Amino acid sequence: MMDHFVVEGGEPLSGTITCSGAKNAALPLMAAALLTDGVTVLRNIPDLQDIRTMAMVLRVIGADVQFEDHVLTIDASHCNFQEAPYELVRKMRASFYVLGPLLARFGHARVSLPGGCALGPRPVDLHLKGMTKLGCDISIENGYAVAETSGMKGNKIRLDISSVGATGNIMMAACGAEGTTTIFNAACEPDIVDLADMLNAMGAEISGIGTNQIKIIGPRKLKPVEWTVIPDRIEAGTFMIAAAATGGRVTLEGCRPDHLQTVIDKLIEAGADVNIGKDRKSVTVNATNRRLHSVDLTTEAYPGFPTDLQAPWTVLMSIAKGDAIIIETIYPERFTHIPELIRLGAQISKTLNNIYIEGVDQLTAASVMCSDIRAGAGLVLAALAAKGSSKVLRIYHLDRGYDRMEDKLTALGADIRRVRE
Ligand code: EPZ
Repeated sequence: MMDHFVVEGGEPLSGTITCSGAKNAALPLMAAALLTDGVTVLRNIPDLQDIRTMAMVLRVIGADVQFEDHVLTIDASHCNFQEAPYELVRKMRASFYVLGPLLARFGHARVSLPGGCALGPRPVDLHLKGMTKLGCDISIENGYAVAETSGMKGNKIRLDISSVGATGNIMMAACGAEGTTTIFNAACEPDIVDLADMLNAMGAEISGIGTNQIKIIGPRKLKPVEWTVIPDRIEAGTFMIAAAATGGRVTLEGCRPDHLQTVIDKLIEAGADVNIGKDRKSVTVNATNRRLHSVDLTTEAYPGFPTDLQAPWTVLMSIAKGDAIIIETIYPERFTHIPELIRLGAQISKTLNNIYIEGVDQLTAASVMCSDIRAGAGLVLAALAAKGSSKVLRIYHLDRGYDRMEDKLTALGADIRRVRE
């Protein structure tokens, strides 16, 4: 389906919405359900295409998966096919998360290598190196990683880059390895913390959670649990920046402001008022009657400013007072939104992984096209801020990562309409 949005921009967003569960936490939790031979129940799951893709991956493996009312029920007791096919992995790279659990539970797996990506090269070498260190033999056959082990052994593993995916995958594999595994330079993202917490609830022995040195003692027989996924900090950050970009006032409920500290700091630096609710579960961004000023930033691993909010921030800076420099260190080629923003009147130039933005008074409406989830979110924000009627094409990218985005924006007073094709 090639639906598109029609957006009448120029009106400030105003009101209150509730955050959905975190996509990037939910995906590895779904893979972790493969570690047990019982029924795992996951709550607060966002209703997204990526979740349905992961559900398909689990079904191919033999799990029974039900998804209703934001609750996933995964019965992994009859898994009989240790494979993730190219047809699904190419749609969503996070499918690769099944490698670790399959090795821990069955000792073998055949998982398609993900191919190219709009964000630039996204290798999985660190995942494979980690599994090899745990005692798996891995070969690449016909585009698949074919992994085999006669029993994994704990080991010291140092990640050259602090990778979210590799940390999660190795952590799940290590639950089935004999002895102690220590991951050095591990990712500290809240998504990884949620995964480690759920694994511990399942009976794993993981420590150092939320630091860059994680220790896993195995093997442990894991039992199924019921788990509620954390709120989506990237969705929350997107709406916070949207409030700022439209000169509006938005309250987000059911979020975790402590996961958004860097984003909050940057918004305040740019001149917005940000207030955290007394319950520490809500946050209000107020930018009414003012134009924000430019703030430079560099994307970094957590707790730094997330690469997943680089496109929205670029939009905010496009209409801020002054010039801003953004340096993308996680995905140096993640800039497909830039040519589209230029079509809306933004003044942006790019050298390597740096972009230089000269803030303009106003963006003007145009038709633009999404190329990945977050670039697409940036374009929706730009269309909301621009004067006139814009079309945002290829919103299937947004449907992968934002639960009912247009409904939430409509609730905030935006004039946004999905046109089905
Ligand atoms: C996760 O991807 C997210 N996806 C991404 O969100 C997010 O942008 C990214 O983390 C960074 O925060 C999911 O959680 C499903 P990485 P992941 O491994 O795990 C390099 C979205 O829109 N690397 O932390 O794949 C890699 O190239 C998506 O929701 C290797 O070199 O990211 C990158 O430069 C987009 N070898 C850096 O590490 C490897 O084996 C960090 O990537 C693995 C990664």
